[in-house]
Amino acid sequence: MFKSLSRVLFSGILLSSWLAFAEDIKCQASLFLTADLTAWTEAEERIAFSRILDNIDHEETMEGAVLASPSKNDPNYFFHWVRDAALVMKSFLSSDQATRWYSQFKLEKLIGRYFLFEGHLQDLPAPTGLGEPKFRADGSVFEEDWGRPQNDGPALRSLFFIKWANRLLDKGKEKWVRENLFSTMANQKTLIERDLWFVVQNWVHAGFDLWEEKNGHHFFTRYAQRRALLEGAKLARRLGDEDAFQRLVKEANSIADSLHHHLSHKDKYIISNLPVHYFPLNPHALGHGVDVSVVLTLNQNYDPDDSLFKMKNSWVLSTVHKIEESFRAEYPINRREDIPGLGIGRYPGDVFDGAKNEYGNPWFLATLGMAEYYYYLVQELQIDNRIIADDVNIDFLKKILNRDTIYIGDTVYFDKEELRLLTLKADSYVARVKFHVDEDGSMSEQFDRYTGYQRSARHLSWSYAAFLSAIKQRRALPAVLFERH
Ligand code: NOJ
Ligand code: NOJ
Repeated sequence: MFKSLSRVLFSGILLSSWLAFAEDIKCQASLFLTADLTAWTEAEERIAFSRILDNIDHEETMEGAVLASPSKNDPNYFFHWVRDAALVMKSFLSSDQATRWYSQFKLEKLIGRYFLFEGHLQDLPAPTGLGEPKFRADGSVFEEDWGRPQNDGPALRSLFFIKWANRLLDKGKEKWVRENLFSTMANQKTLIERDLWFVVQNWVHAGFDLWEEKNGHHFFTRYAQRRALLEGAKLARRLGDEDAFQRLVKEANSIADSLHHHLSHKDKYIISNLPVHYFPLNPHALGHGVDVSVVLTLNQNYDPDDSLFKMKNSWVLSTVHKIEESFRAEYPINRREDIPGLGIGRYPGDVFDGAKNEYGNPWFLATLGMAEYYYYLVQELQIDNRIIADDVNIDFLKKILNRDTIYIGDTVYFDKEELRLLTLKADSYVARVKFHVDEDGSMSEQFDRYTGYQRSARHLSWSYAAFLSAIKQRRALPAVLFERH
């Protein structure tokens, strides 16, 4: 297995790049074999798919609702969250395997039911209108106290339906799309128009973040809002609505400008939340801004033609570095040498555990989000393998290359060997998840920071969705990058 190591040792030049990953992947390659991991991901994919189906087709819900989890207490997740539903449906629809196990016809029926359910929610007199984060699974309004509004919902929901509208247009179903999804922005009647209008009118306002705790402005929310407007603009143009195209692009550009406020020039990473007021679940966690939601944002909105924040953007690299270092230090389970990779949580200092809030834990969707990120990074570096060292990314580069002799202005090249090691790094996160998943393949929301046992909501739809998306990007890489020699 370490044949390449000896080759590397003699080559000198490559030595540094192998050591690059020494700390994280030290002896980890020996802990998991590519073939085993691949076989496991294939089996797990099928399980994830059917577990999501169970949560969509649940007999105790209104048709079309997507349960966050079947758990009814500690925590009660027996609800339809607009965000979770949109993300889950997107990964479900985009899974390359979906039609292998489920007919195209059934898939369309399922999306049709989700569409009707979301249309029903849009009409409900909810406390914060379209910004309402969650609804009861029977399709009624949830009126108790909650962190609301959460303005990422309409953006994520419209992104799903824009994708679907484009697929329908490809199949010549323009009439249906115009009548049900997008007629003209001036109307504000159909589902997508209503969501996009909401985004146009509300993105400047503060709201709660995706973790439902902080009231303010959020990188995750703003980025999804921008992407929704850009995708909406393209759809409008495709349907001949040039006015809407112009208007939406202009607004999206303003959101792009606002994203730069999230760059901390002092600390050199992307800050997730710009606070207005914090919901004090854990006052010690306040103000830090290191948050895996930044990585989830980039994964979810990845577009190789968008140059705003590439995966190899210096700010992104430094944020990833910061996240890894924070959770390496915070979770005892990350100090065990017999488990590959790292367990990643929402943000350092989190205490939410689904019940008593004694201490926060690593999350499946966050750990898988890191894997997905590295698969994307490799894809990007395959096209252009250079990164220029600057004062923001230099710590990441030094760490990953385990080299002190990198100077600002140097061009660092990621050749095949380095790309392989980055792929191994991504795989180490998947292997970490494999370690914590139950024998029957089930995934809850979290795994304990001390014992590694699963915690909080069981069968979390979003955990399975995060698995499907990560594996999709793993499969997009050529086999040669998975060779471990
Ligand atoms: C439930 C939310 O879903 C979770 O994200 C949050 O941490 C807790 N409430 C505490 O506010
Ligand atoms: C808590 C998470 O913080 C939030 O993002 C999610 O929407 C809900 N759980 C439901 O899964």
